[in-house]
Amino acid sequence: MIRYALLVAPSANRVYAGQALRLTAAELSAFAERGLAGRVHDIAEVVLAGVPYLGFAADEPLGEADLAYLSRVSTAYALFEVEGDRLRPVALPPSLRYDEDLLTIPKYAGKTNEQFTQLLLNLTVLASSRAQQLLTRRLVVLDPLCGRGTTLHLALRYGYDAIGIEADGGHVEAYGAFLRTWLRRKRLKHRVEAHPVRQGGRRVARKLVATVAPSPEAHRSGDTQQVTMYHADTIRARAFLRAGCCDLIVTDTPYGVAHGSRTPEAVRRNPRDLLAAAVPAWAELLRHGGALGVSFNTHLLAAEDLADLLTAEGRQVVTDPPYQNLSRWVDQGITRDVVVARKP
Ligand SMILES: C[S@@+](CC[C@H](N)C(=O)[O-])C[C@H]1O[C@@H](n2cnc3c(N)ncnc32)[C@H](O)[C@@H]1O
Repeated sequence: MIRYALLVAPSANRVYAGQALRLTAAELSAFAERGLAGRVHDIAEVVLAGVPYLGFAADEPLGEADLAYLSRVSTAYALFEVEGDRLRPVALPPSLRYDEDLLTIPKYAGKTNEQFTQLLLNLTVLASSRAQQLLTRRLVVLDPLCGRGTTLHLALRYGYDAIGIEADGGHVEAYGAFLRTWLRRKRLKHRVEAHPVRQGGRRVARKLVATVAPSPEAHRSGDTQQVTMYHADTIRARAFLRAGCCDLIVTDTPYGVAHGSRTPEAVRRNPRDLLAAAVPAWAELLRHGGALGVSFNTHLLAAEDLADLLTAEGRQVVTDPPYQNLSRWVDQGITRDVVVARKP
């Protein structure tokens, strides 16, 4: 048996205020069960020379594909093989496209933390029937409450296509301005266009469509990715998006602090009414075998209420152990939790 020790990024310890190892253990367990098909086990915190690591074991040395999965763990910083009292570094292959600053440069009130967004995307794709292909298949990720696009940018880094919906025109403008500048500065082949979306002669939304390739070779071979952001009310998503347009829905609901939840009637602190109105439309947008991961503030919504909203028409909330221990304290008014459901 081979023992490994995963060092989590120092930034994760700051973000998760002492909860980074617990959340990473849950995330790694989800990878172990689904992506890594049981090849990794005995996941537990270990302290080596006073430094905490997430330890785990494997019956065989981990191969390239296994390491590529591990490199996607949201807090992964460095991996070591434990040989007696020595640590042998094991390189984690880079498996993300584009520079990290695509995610880290934008700073604004109400931004969802990048590492947490990655945790949520990972847990959602691992719950879907695409778990075995998450490194190889061009999936489509929808964030139906996308703010200024943290999920969309992460999806691009994963090699996926992305769709976002956001009601606040200021966010949509700021997103377009940032993306144009960033793509130009990185000298990446791209096209960014804004269009009205009409239905029956009536304008139902406005959309920003960006097409981008990670390299000139990728561009020549047609390996381009697309990100589309709609300036619209997410409740009306079916007016401008077709059923089955995405594999994954990954979203962080308004916390009621920096952002409220908009419904046609009012802007509320509590996202319940918004979710009750929007989830049926979102579920139609999801392909069969896809999954939907939602994070929320437990001060505003109980996990059971959200689970009730998500379980209809055969959708199943994922209750396996890694998915049950994800709540984390953010600050006095915010404790975040995550519910993931799959559409069979
Ligand atoms: C928690 S924020 C998302 C932040 C995002 N993940 C990011 O990092 O930029 C929730 C977003 O939902 C948006 N929102 C609230 N009600 C909406 C609605 N009915 N339709 C579309 N967007 C809405 C808010 O404007 C806010 O930007």
